[in-house]
Amino acid sequence: MQTLIINIKELLQVREISIDKVSGKEMGILPSVKNAFLLLENDLIADFGPMEKCPKINAETTIDASGKIVLPSWCDSHTHIVYAGNREQEFVDRINGLTYEEIANRGGGILNSAKKLNETSEEEIYNQSKKRLEEVIQQGTGAVEIKSGYGLTVEGELKMLRVIKKLAANYPIAIKATFLGAHAFPLAYKENHSGYIDLLINEMLPKIAEEKLADYIDAFLETGYFSVEETERIMQAGKQYGLRSKIHVNQFTAINGIAACVKHNALSVDHLEIVTDEDIEALKNNETIAVALPSCSYFISIPYTPARRMLEAGLPLALASDFNPGTTPSGNMNFVVATACIKMKMTPEEAINAATINGAYAMGLSKTHGSITVGKKANLIITKPLNSFYQLPYQFASNLIEQVILNGNVIA
Ligand code: NIG
Ligand code: FE
Repeated sequence: MQTLIINIKELLQVREISIDKVSGKEMGILPSVKNAFLLLENDLIADFGPMEKCPKINAETTIDASGKIVLPSWCDSHTHIVYAGNREQEFVDRINGLTYEEIANRGGGILNSAKKLNETSEEEIYNQSKKRLEEVIQQGTGAVEIKSGYGLTVEGELKMLRVIKKLAANYPIAIKATFLGAHAFPLAYKENHSGYIDLLINEMLPKIAEEKLADYIDAFLETGYFSVEETERIMQAGKQYGLRSKIHVNQFTAINGIAACVKHNALSVDHLEIVTDEDIEALKNNETIAVALPSCSYFISIPYTPARRMLEAGLPLALASDFNPGTTPSGNMNFVVATACIKMKMTPEEAINAATINGAYAMGLSKTHGSITVGKKANLIITKPLNSFYQLPYQFASNLIEQVILNGNVIA
């Protein structure tokens, strides 16, 4: 089936030659074609260019995008969309003065979500999670990574990963699954960290590998959570099962975790609200990408990832939502892009690169997603009529999306 989109005011993120990511200064360049056409064949991008070169064909569907911007769908490389219940009470507790850390120390936070998850059936978790997935699809996300990490028991972690697998089977969006058994120490192992890591390595990982439930492995490398040494043990074990790591690190403190992640060839290091010069040095000239999560900084009032320092050092940067019940109950990638512009001083060009091609890279999908390139997935956002694409971050709270296309089909 062919779909021809014509008269596109501006077609963004066009890459004739497939690239895997953009870094440093290059992130300021967002290649585009004005007054463009885009041809889709089945689920793939077949051709694009200026309207003068538009093929004279009778496509099954023709969409007139006069006045509208077309860009690749958002690639959200870091979410915790699968969870049970909510944590509104902690939101109010923070308004009344408690910090994220104080709430966690009272048994709230991740352990609060873990309790709810273990008490909820797989079917019910699926039903709650699919609503969030449907919401982010409407908001323009076309590829998403989803983590486990609210089970913290063998059964709970497997249950979460099975829900992710079922979502991937039932929805047209690309989904990567990450095993985050090392999200927090359950109460029973508070004084026995190595016992929990043994459980994770000897019981959870083999079962996950056997059922092929995960693509990546994650840990919360942070003061009071998993130490550098503990995380290294987990990254090493993951590698044995073919799971590359994507690590939560430097959210609250810098404890030389980034260098350890790079040493283990992590695909991504995520959060980085606190970044030292040594961390920046460690990130130079390797395959690990930093992922910033500005909605999390916004929601729990912590510093923003220092994007300018990182881009000036020539590093690549991705943006993701961190959609989760505790620190970011939103998967709205337009808001992420806008917040990166407003609070991290990224230009719209940089932020869109970070939320498309670099997001795809951060979940191992840049060969198939994240840019307008012949042969890549036809996953697209068609906006409402706009003056320019700057309006997307400028009008930060508006929904400027008119249509969403996934696998060549208009789905919203
Ligand atoms: O990415 N920092 C660790 N994990 C999540 C939050 C988890 C939670 O509070 O439920 C995050 O922010
Ligand atoms: Fe997270």
